[in-house]
Amino acid sequence: MADKFENISVSFEGEHIAVVKLEREDKFNALNIATRKDLADAFTKLGEDEQVRVIVLTGGAKAFAAGADLKEFIDAGPIEIMKRRVERYWRAISQVPQPVIAAVNGFALGGGFELAMVCDIIVAGEGAKFGQPEIRVGIMPGSGGTQRILRTAGKYQAMRLCLTGERISAQEAHAMGLVSDVVADDQVMIKALEMASNISSMPSLAARQIKEAIIQGADASLEAALLMERRMMQLLFDSEDKTEGMQAFFDKRPPEFKGE
Ligand code: COA
Repeated sequence: MADKFENISVSFEGEHIAVVKLEREDKFNALNIATRKDLADAFTKLGEDEQVRVIVLTGGAKAFAAGADLKEFIDAGPIEIMKRRVERYWRAISQVPQPVIAAVNGFALGGGFELAMVCDIIVAGEGAKFGQPEIRVGIMPGSGGTQRILRTAGKYQAMRLCLTGERISAQEAHAMGLVSDVVADDQVMIKALEMASNISSMPSLAARQIKEAIIQGADASLEAALLMERRMMQLLFDSEDKTEGMQAFFDKRPPEFKGE
């Protein structure tokens, strides 16, 4: 898979962890359409690969991604922008059933921050900077920034970040609930892979159901979401891994999960 992409690379850590890396660091990984397409293609393929249990998405040391490629924006009109339908590329990422961990160093700005927020867990280096600077170039977030910050950190932080375009540190983003974990810059991939390895050792059916319950539940009423959660949990009682996990507990031995 790795050879097919111009703007990203895909590699594997062991059998079950895929690492997708943005490879336009000279342009601060600015997200041009070609890169977005590469990401969508890679995530679609990985999503269909039963062997892949966790995906780590990362950028470079200077930048996770510095947002939409402004070269593709400066001369574009609204119909052209609408026709690009870039939302389909992010959807390909948000719809993969496996958990996705963003490993963020450097700048995660605009579409870069939005890309990280499409992921399920964000591990950031202490030098990482997050922000939605679109207002400074006359536009606004268009791939989830206003809504994902609103739903995660609330109205007042969403307003502050999107209206001022100011950058925040990884620590600040963490305090606002926008980042899962902050580690030293050189530990970001190590931490992300450690988490990926931990999650990939779990029963994969349960991991997928948990991801779906959290994402789908976020926009449902509490009662509907609790019902959905209950049904999803009940479904797992039909999995072999449930019997194995509980039997291993009583046998005082490590479980051998099969993803069945
Ligand atoms: N689109 C296109 N090119 C970008 C880019 C973007 N979003 N972000 C960075 N680049 C390019 C620069 O044009 C420059 O290219 P060049 O070497 O050919 O001149 C290169 O990446 C390095 O950027 P530069 O601004 O010189 O580096 P810096 O260290 O001074 O600043 C950033 C880095 C990321 C803070 C700054 O580039 C920036 O603010 N980028 C725009 C972020 C943004 O507004 N994103 C939302 C877009 S809607």
